[in-house]
Amino acid sequence: MTMGSLWKILVLVAVASFFSVSGVSSNSEGDALHAFRRSLLDPDNVLQSWDPTLVNPCTWFHVTCDQNNRVIRVDLGNSNLSGHLVPELGMLEHLQYLELYKNNITGNILEELGNLKNLISLDLYNNKLTGEIPRSLGNLKSLVFLRINNNMLTGQIPRGLTSLPNLKVVDISSNNLCGTIPTSGVFQRFPLKNFENNPRLKGPELQGLVSYDTGC
Ligand SMILES: *[C@@H]1O[C@H](CO)[C@@H](O)[C@H](O)[C@H]1NC(C)=O
Ligand SMILES: *[C@@H]1O[C@H](CO)[C@@H](O)[C@H](O)[C@H]1NC(C)=O
Repeated sequence: MTMGSLWKILVLVAVASFFSVSGVSSNSEGDALHAFRRSLLDPDNVLQSWDPTLVNPCTWFHVTCDQNNRVIRVDLGNSNLSGHLVPELGMLEHLQYLELYKNNITGNILEELGNLKNLISLDLYNNKLTGEIPRSLGNLKSLVFLRINNNMLTGQIPRGLTSLPNLKVVDISSNNLCGTIPTSGVFQRFPLKNFENNPRLKGPELQGLVSYDTGC
């Protein structure tokens, strides 16, 4: 080995360690979104620009980043997508808007979405989601909009949602939920029509009345 090639190797090692220390070379948010892409069928090619070899996902269509190149929006409503959510979505810790309404998404609302502590809007309405609403959504302290209507969700409405301080709009109509409609906390102000068309869901809880038959 010549002295010249040894220098080249040393420079390469120095550059590589600089990038790994500064975090520039790690593209965990792009990897998380690409894991989601791999779980989807995309007949209209709306995800064509999602190239995992780019340094970050900020130039991808339907993805928005803040000035620090952290993903804050995923806008894929009405995009003819099939497939399911992936746990990696829970790694997008700066995400504020997850817009996946009017698609053909199946499977569960994953509990990992409860890690998105900056989430403002979770719009999953008009899909084919099944299973229960995860209790972890009660950790989404920034949440303002929760629209999961027109799916096939079952189980009870997690009571933790009633203490989300910023929640302003909740629509869970047209599912197959059971139990009773909460009336405490922020749920006092949501209109009943946003719970309708859940054949097994019973009317609002009466104060002080313990219901033994939740119908679940
Ligand atoms: C949605 O995708 C299906 C194929 O899965 C295709 O037949 C249909 O035309 C697409 N709809 C729209 C509105 O692009
Ligand atoms: C919706 O997804 C299901 C299952 O993944 C698939 O069989 C069906 O063709 C999809 N429908 C549309 C309109 O894409």
